Amino acid sequence: MHQVRLLPHDITFTADERETVLQAALNAGVAFPNRCQVGACAMCLCRKLSGEISYQLEPMLTEKEQAEGWIFTCQATAKSDLVLELD
Ligand code: FES
Repeated sequence: MHQVRLLPHDITFTADERETVLQAALNAGVAFPNRCQVGACAMCLCRKLSGEISYQLEPMLTEKEQAEGWIFTCQATAKSDLVLELD
């Protein structure tokens, strides 16, 4: 289990490596923006400020977006504690 801290509201929830970060948030009752849950709509995009994630299927992100830390939470699983930021 990893701790996920979500800014700017400073909400913390736990995520294990068998669920996506989005699913973990929804399971914890966090109103995380999402729609398709398959990596297509970009509603669930947020920025990763620290920590490690992995993807089963790499989403379509430019190198610049990746460098800025953007992740698709509906496709990402936590591999460490995370700090994320929603716009
Ligand atoms: S919910 Fe649509 S891309 Fe993640």
